[in-house]
Amino acid sequence: MILILDFGSQYTQLIARRIREHNVYCEIIPYNYKLDKIKKKLPSGIILSGGPASVYSSNSPKISKKLFQLDVPILGICYGQQLMCKILGGKVDSSLHREFGRAPIKILRNSILSENLWLKDKSYNVWMSHGDKINEIPEGFVKIGTSKNAPFAFIADEKRKFYGVQFHPEVMHTKNGSKLLEKFSKNICKIKPNWSMSSYKNQSIKNIISLVGKSNVICGLSGGVDSTVTAILLHKAIGDKLTCVFVDNGLLREGEAEEVVNIFTKKYKINLNFVDASKEFLIALKGVKDPERKRKIIGNIFVKIFEKEAKKINKVKFLAQGTLYPDIIESVSFSGAPSAKIKSHHNVGGLPKNMNLDLVEPLRELFKDEVRKLGKELNIPSNLINRHPFPGPGLGIRVLGSITQKKLFILRKADKIYMEEIISAGLYDKIWQAFAVLLPVKTVGVMGDERTYEYVCSLRAVTSVDGMTADFFHFDNKFLSKVSTRIINEVVGINRVVYDITSKPPGTIEWE
Ligand code: XMP
Repeated sequence: MILILDFGSQYTQLIARRIREHNVYCEIIPYNYKLDKIKKKLPSGIILSGGPASVYSSNSPKISKKLFQLDVPILGICYGQQLMCKILGGKVDSSLHREFGRAPIKILRNSILSENLWLKDKSYNVWMSHGDKINEIPEGFVKIGTSKNAPFAFIADEKRKFYGVQFHPEVMHTKNGSKLLEKFSKNICKIKPNWSMSSYKNQSIKNIISLVGKSNVICGLSGGVDSTVTAILLHKAIGDKLTCVFVDNGLLREGEAEEVVNIFTKKYKINLNFVDASKEFLIALKGVKDPERKRKIIGNIFVKIFEKEAKKINKVKFLAQGTLYPDIIESVSFSGAPSAKIKSHHNVGGLPKNMNLDLVEPLRELFKDEVRKLGKELNIPSNLINRHPFPGPGLGIRVLGSITQKKLFILRKADKIYMEEIISAGLYDKIWQAFAVLLPVKTVGVMGDERTYEYVCSLRAVTSVDGMTADFFHFDNKFLSKVSTRIINEVVGINRVVYDITSKPPGTIEWE
């Protein structure tokens, strides 16, 4: 396996993901993991990640020099490269010229790591993100590549199999970056690529069993991909020790509550507490227009209900959440503990610390498409795995402005028609997320010679890889006109349909 020592880079998980894409097993551990424990893991290679610190600041994360005596190939990336240089006798200084984004590096000589990927005397675009730079390399190293603001952008000590790159090979924008990581694992570390999502599943199940022991686990279900995969994985691991809670907040799409209950209780036979709290939510949301207040109210009630449900279960010690890597991308953990105390959560608007439950987050290393692959491994039907994401606050943030039962009813009908048409046109799997939004605006129309004065519905459909950026989906006009006609004819309360052509950024996917 490859061990990745985490120094807090935003991209650490991306390194792991790239290595996994090449079917090589890897683990991320905190930089301060004890050397003995590192040795026991018998790594075939070590990667030192990037990180936000400066190697010369007194409280920057450090590692023992002995790591370099393990006779294991090491690749230092960005901060990792600088730290390696400093420890082995090189010199790192701060630079007036920060380098951020795409930059060309020129290859000055060949190396085993870049053989056939990057040719001598040629330049290649890489992704940089650094302020400090190396000014002197340690004995034994040679310069392989250089960039304008990083004279030692790529260095190697082929004898000891130590490599250092100032740029980020894990980022898509680095030309052949992923192949470089592949070469590191296969050619330098000599690892056979035999890891798969199936082994990830088995390992996760083992981890869950050993973490949970005899305790019980509670898991909030939303019906979305992440919580579904989390629950089914946990159920495989601990069976009846898992209880799922599904809260109907009155903000779900048509038929959603019944569908979730059916799947979990009938198909999977998972303990499920169904809580119909729709009245409570709708009363609390009455007259509230501000999107952030809506989210807070929804989050707070959810927490209250969840706490109540947790107390009903005996010996419950863990809360399982389908947190994915993009959800935690900005909260770097130096503790690296397999379970952390509850922290604010995107789905539910922040669970309180005093719930005193530990977290089980088996998906926290994965990206959405990897979760879908894991779902396949667990034999979850593809219509469940490929569901579009649905936000925790549900239709509460799609009925813009104040929420009423009537508006929810209208939106549900419009959304259902839109989905039916998307599915029957075979477009569902080509779209990251599609939904209807009800605007708090009425416009004048004419139907059957009668004047109408009804709401506007906006349709949204986006393509995206991870929800962080998105582009609007290019439907053909016939499709849009069919959906618009159906909605206006079939949904009483809507007399105008518009299509949202905003990308993210500058827009967001949801309207509130
Ligand atoms: P935005 O609107 O921020 O959405 O571009 C990005 C993705 O996140 C979903 N989303 C949420 N999911 N709780 C969730 O579980 C939320 O509060 C929330 N807000 C947005 C959104 O549907 C999209 O997939």
